Amino acid sequence: MTTPSLVTSLPGPQAAAIVERNRLSVTPSLPHAYPLAVKRAQGTMVEDLDGNRFLDCAAGIAVCSTGHCHPRVVQAIHDQATRLIHICGADFYDPMYIALAERLSNLAPGQSPKRTFLGNSGAEAVEAAFKLARYHTGRPGVVTFFGAFHGRTMGAVSLTASKSLYHEGFGPMVPGVAHVPYAYCYRCHYNLTYPACNLACVDAIEDTWFSRSLPPEQVAAIFVEPVQGEGGYIVPPDGWLKKLRALCDKYDILLVADEVQSGMGRTGKMFAVEHWGVEPDIICLAKALASGMPISAMIAREGVMDWPPGAHGSTFGGNPVCCAAAQATLDVVVEENLLEKATRLGETLRANLNDLAAESRLIGDVRGLGLMVGVELVKDKHTKARAKEEAEQVVQACFRRGLLLLTCGPNSVRFAPPLTITAAEIDTALSIFADALAEVESMSL
Ligand SMILES: Cc1ncc(COP(=O)(O)O)c(C=O)c1O
Repeated sequence: MTTPSLVTSLPGPQAAAIVERNRLSVTPSLPHAYPLAVKRAQGTMVEDLDGNRFLDCAAGIAVCSTGHCHPRVVQAIHDQATRLIHICGADFYDPMYIALAERLSNLAPGQSPKRTFLGNSGAEAVEAAFKLARYHTGRPGVVTFFGAFHGRTMGAVSLTASKSLYHEGFGPMVPGVAHVPYAYCYRCHYNLTYPACNLACVDAIEDTWFSRSLPPEQVAAIFVEPVQGEGGYIVPPDGWLKKLRALCDKYDILLVADEVQSGMGRTGKMFAVEHWGVEPDIICLAKALASGMPISAMIAREGVMDWPPGAHGSTFGGNPVCCAAAQATLDVVVEENLLEKATRLGETLRANLNDLAAESRLIGDVRGLGLMVGVELVKDKHTKARAKEEAEQVVQACFRRGLLLLTCGPNSVRFAPPLTITAAEIDTALSIFADALAEVESMSL
């Protein structure tokens, strides 16, 4: 599998049959971006049941950072599976759990000693952080941001505010959560411009929420995605995260960085917060942590993780096979220089997308860090009216051409390829994207 095939008719017969079986037996709550039914994948290439090949710039929603089935990860999974598959790190002492906790605790930014809890999914890491923040501070309140996605379990979904669909029919949400505007400079909630704004959106948390409806002494934590993911791949301006940290310090509020999507090298640093030199009190990781094996981590400052035995745990969390995959993933990220690669190729990708934006009617904004790159589509560059259908159509048109992308936010397209992607593959992705965009632009004339 080297280059994507030009796919003209999708789904093929085998994929169509799978889509039908899915319709009859699988929960209808799964959204399914397009009729992709995968047989196998290697590196950046995905092959469907009908033999169509796709260049993967979605990576299973920013998960397969080392590429699909990286040989070192596969070997580590195999070796561990022949030794021990499960023991339960909650009830017994699992050396694999402990070794990964040691590595992550040492890797996390900042000088203060850390401790790590391992779970199975991003939502579980967030859930653990939510519980720990309340437990440690004895305060019920939490601040999160509009556009945030923190997961779908009851606590995590209460923190989420990217689509009202996620709340609809599930209320009441967990009480004590307030949502405030994110630093989305392209669409500043306060109609201000950076840097003249002096980061007024952070001041507003204090001046509006803390002074009117949410006493800061009742706030346990501010949960933040250092780069907002599902909300639209939004990069906050320099100084914003630092100012948020200072606000937290002023009121003894914990700063929780949800790095489930931005972590593990995606932005060109192991943790996105490192771009701004900020040390959170708690960090949540999942997705790319083990190249596709289900594991998550909640890393907290030692003094914060003060709950007693039994207060929190998980049967499967930190499963030894997943821990082995995570160790191999970290080795690959370091030894194959994937941070440097994400930085370099991300710059190329954004530069080319910006060139495309200059000629395109639809591209309103190109943004990102490393290989976490978003392209926001608008109907009009002055009014910035959201081009929701067009964003969806571009992703579908890319799929038909053999490129896997996903939307994010109401009207953006995200590029989150494996960090192992080559410069030539980035070129291929760009030319398919340009072609698909031209098709959609010609349709919406
Ligand atoms: C920032 C962030 N947090 C949490 C989650 C939830 O992760 P999971 O789907 O593994 O529960 C996601 C998933 O997209 C995410 O992007």
